[in-house]
Formats: sequence, C-alpha cells, structure tokens
Amino acid sequence: MELELTSTLPRRSFVAATTAAIATTAAAVQTASAANEKIGVGFIGYGLIGKRHVLDFQQQPDVNIVAVAECHQGRLDEAKALIGGGAKGYGDFRKLLEDKNVDVVVISTPDHWHALMTMLACAAGKDVYVEKPLTLFPKEGRWMIDVAKKHGRVVQVGTQQRSGPHYSAAKKLIQDGHIGKVVSIRMQSYRNVVPGFGNPPDGPPPAGFDWDMFLGPAPQRPYNSQRGLYHFRWFWDYSGGQMTNLGQHSLDIVDWYLGPLALKSVASFGGRFALADSGETPDTQDAIFDFPGCTAAWSHREVSQGEPAGSGLVFCGTKGSLSISRSGFTVTPDRQIRPEDAVPQFTEGGQPVGGVARSKQRAETKLWTTALTDQSGNQLDQFRRHVRNFLDCIKSRQRPVSDLESGHRVATLCHLANLSLRLGRSLQWDAKTETIRGDAEATAMLERPYRQPWDAALKGALSYSKRPRLLQQAFQAQAGTLVLRGHADLISRSAWSAVCSTWRVMSSPISRCERVFHC
Ligand SMILES: NC(=O)c1ccc[n+]([C@@H]2O[C@H](COP(=O)([O-])OP(=O)(O)OC[C@H]3O[C@@H](n4cnc5c(N)ncnc54)[C@H](O)[C@@H]3O)[C@@H](O)[C@H]2O)c1
Repeated sequence: MELELTSTLPRRSFVAATTAAIATTAAAVQTASAANEKIGVGFIGYGLIGKRHVLDFQQQPDVNIVAVAECHQGRLDEAKALIGGGAKGYGDFRKLLEDKNVDVVVISTPDHWHALMTMLACAAGKDVYVEKPLTLFPKEGRWMIDVAKKHGRVVQVGTQQRSGPHYSAAKKLIQDGHIGKVVSIRMQSYRNVVPGFGNPPDGPPPAGFDWDMFLGPAPQRPYNSQRGLYHFRWFWDYSGGQMTNLGQHSLDIVDWYLGPLALKSVASFGGRFALADSGETPDTQDAIFDFPGCTAAWSHREVSQGEPAGSGLVFCGTKGSLSISRSGFTVTPDRQIRPEDAVPQFTEGGQPVGGVARSKQRAETKLWTTALTDQSGNQLDQFRRHVRNFLDCIKSRQRPVSDLESGHRVATLCHLANLSLRLGRSLQWDAKTETIRGDAEATAMLERPYRQPWDAALKGALSYSKRPRLLQQAFQAQAGTLVLRGHADLISRSAWSAVCSTWRVMSSPISRCERVFHC
C-alpha cells in the first residue's frame, strides 16, 4: 500500500519536530530532499560478519557510519578505529537506538538477539539489515513482520546470495523450465572438525566483555568461552546449529526459486555422535522436507568429510539438474532414453520371453536440455550488492530482495527440522496458519521465554496499538507538504481524515486505504 503526499520539509526537521512520534512514523516518512542526504548507519555486533558489513557499507557513497554497539570492549575499540571519523561507540545497543543520527541499524549479533533487536530498532524508527538465521524460534518471525509493518520499516535479511547475478540467472533458468519440473532438491555441508572446539571450564568473562549483555534474552549462564564469540553456534540457547546457520542459506535459495514454500511435513534425524567438545547441536543431521510436488533434503556432517565433500545445493528436474554455489552454477542435462532401456538385465539376450525388452540397437544419445555453466559468482560482490539493494530500498520504500516474510518462512523450516530431530518424530505443518498439526508438545516449542528485562522489552515492542493516534499528532504538528510512502495501515480512519484536511493528497484516495484498514 502506498500513499504519496508532497513535502518541502527536510526529513530530519520533520522527525525532530515530532519526537513523540519517532517510534511510529519516521519509518514511513521520507522527503524528496532526503534522497540526497547520507544515510546514517549504526552497527550492532562487530564480529566475523559484522566487520565484513562495516567494510561493505563504508564503500557506499551515500552512507555515513555514525555509531557502533558492541558488548566486547576490544571489538568496540577495533570497530571504532576501523570506522574512524568520530563514530560513536556504545556498550549498550539501546543507546545506539536512541541516537538520532542513526537512520539504519545493521545487526550482526548471535541469532538469539536478531528478533528482539530488529523489533526494538523498528520501534525506534530505524530501517534494519539483520543477519540470518532470522530467528531463534518460529514465533519470533511473525512478531518481527508485524512490528516492522506497523512501523513502516524496511528490513533486509542477510541472505546475500539473492543479490548474486548468477543466482538470478539460475532462477530464471529454473523458472523458465530449463531443467524441467523440479522434483527434488539436495543440500549439504560436509567437513571434518573432529575432535571439536574444546571443553573449557566456566569462569569469569574476560575484562571488558559484558557477558550479561551478550546473553540478553537467553537463559542466565556462567561465562564459558565456548558459548561466546563465534562458538555460540553450537548451543541451543543461541542458535539452531548448522541446520539454521547454513541451512537457512540453502533453503532460502529454494524458497526464492520455487516458493513461497508451503511445507507439509518434515522429518529430521541425527545427533552429536562424534564431537568430543561441549557443544550441543548435532554434528550429523539429515532432514527431509515435504513440499507440494517436490521434496528437499538437507544433510550436514561436522565429523566426516565424505565424498563429495564441502557444500552443495542441487535442483533436480525432469530434464536435468542445476548445481549452484556462491561461485557459480552448472546445468547437467539428463539423457533421453527409451524407458524400457533403463530396465536391468542380468543375462545376455535379455529377460525371458514376455519380459521387458530393451532396444535392439543403441540409439543416438539425445539430451533433454542443454548443458550450461556460469562461474562468474563472487561472494564479496554478493555482499556489496546486498547492501546496495538495502540502501536503494530505504529510499524507495520497496521490499528488499531478502524480505522478512521469506526470512521467517525459511528460518521456520530449519527450526521445524530441529524440533523434529529433538522430539524424535516427524511434524505436520500448516503453512497458512503457521501451526503444527496435532502435536501439543511440539507446538509449545514454537516459542521460548525471554529473560528479563528483555521480556518486558519484547512486550513493549509488540504493543503498538497507540500508534495511529501518535501518527495523527505528527501530521497535525506540521505545516507544508511531505512525502509519505507506504504503510497506510499505520493510519487510522480518523487520522486519515486529519491528513486529508491538512495535506495535499497526490494519490491514494481513502478508498485505496480502506482495504488496508480492514487487514
Ligand atoms: N550471511 C552470512 O554469510 C553470515 C556469515 C557469518 C555469520 N552470519 C551470521 O551473523 C551472526 C553473527 O555471527 P558471527 O560469526 O559474526 O559471530 P561473532 O561471535 O563473531 O560476532 C557476534 C558479535 O556480536 C556481539 N554481541 C553479542 N551480543 C551483543 C549485544 N547485546 N550488543 C552488542 N554486541 C553484541 C559479540 O560480542 C560479537 O562480537 C550470526 O547470526 C551468524 O549466523 C552470517
């Protein structure tokens, strides 16, 4: 839904004049002049991927990095030095959210923070780039979508492959039927990291590491380096292991090419079979997803490289297969054969009389489709393009290429696979209602409690019912005209009347809004 009014007010003055309404309206408001302003970016989390993001945002001409929040002092200092230019450093990310120079927040913290930080940032009027996996448990995704929508925020999920040109080219091939009907998808990640990453004792956190802030909404625990930087991935309190860490990337491409994926059921098996460290998530896992008309299988091993090793994503169609990675793709055609020639025979002369007869002569080899290869992929280029897509969407107020709906849908697939593994049974899913059919125990696991004070913060973020009134005040406080794009559902019917009488409406008459009011 898009409304358009015209404005002579610079965005910052509008926002400043309506501080009471920042949390509710700044997202939806953008003046023509704002298009030429630099976008103030703040980073939360400066680790393995956070540092990459700093470098990529730094390269954008319309970006001004103004702040960074880190709960690890050493990393905070390093980030500030890398950013330079007097960027502010915060140990508490809530201070960064209060910083009026921050228009946009980039969240690169462990998974258990993604949802809450995104919602708080949206409520503070910031657009958000948040790393994958989008969530720690399924319910968080719908909360994020609702909060972002209510605040009119643009949110990009860090599934950067969607910005790779060769991924788009392969998408077109598949959607044009180049490999026929896709019936099966195979995804894998195989390596051998035996014996694992160690089993250190609990102890005091290193000086300058705010462990309580790291844990945030997760359960209180004594400090343990295995649960901290990078290795949080191997613990259920902060992550879903490789199923969510890597599986979200692969399933995201599947959803993008063939989706939206409406899962019917999932079964997953595995365990921590061979790693001798203190981690919890499976070192070996297989998951089968049942979608209408096709199946998808995820498989990871941390303890046996096997053959083929490494990562893989293969779409198997009725004319051939397409195998894709961050560096490129290959289409391998299937041979056209007479089906009877595929029937085995164990004696010369074939089956006894009455059996299936093979062709007498070898037929000329024909292929169902053409072989193709494209090795143009470049991971760093994908990262940069993803940032660019996000920044462009901030200006246009369009949905980014990796939007919240897809991020939520795909993260949920991963979480459901993990639930199946942990419960030891397959799960039936109703994709429309986002509920598990006939399994009360599994249903209860779609949500987890947040630790205080973060539970209160969550409830605050979810209670947005007063926003229409605040929005109305925001409009009435101003003179002149402004551009308001998107998210008419922020506006109550009475607020809209006030808008109409105060502002010159360029498009989107009330009749177009009514549909949204009823949503
Ligand atoms: N898209 C990709 O290709 C990609 C690659 C790597 C990681 N990731 C994702 O990025 C996220 C981070 O992973 P990582 O490997 O960079 O982890 P990391 O441990 O290296 O970095 C996370 C940082 O967040 C900081 N942090 C934690 N809680 C914080 C808080 N409350 N306030 C401020 N800072 C806080 C930590 O101190 C740490 O420096 C994960 O969700 C991971 O799945 C994505």
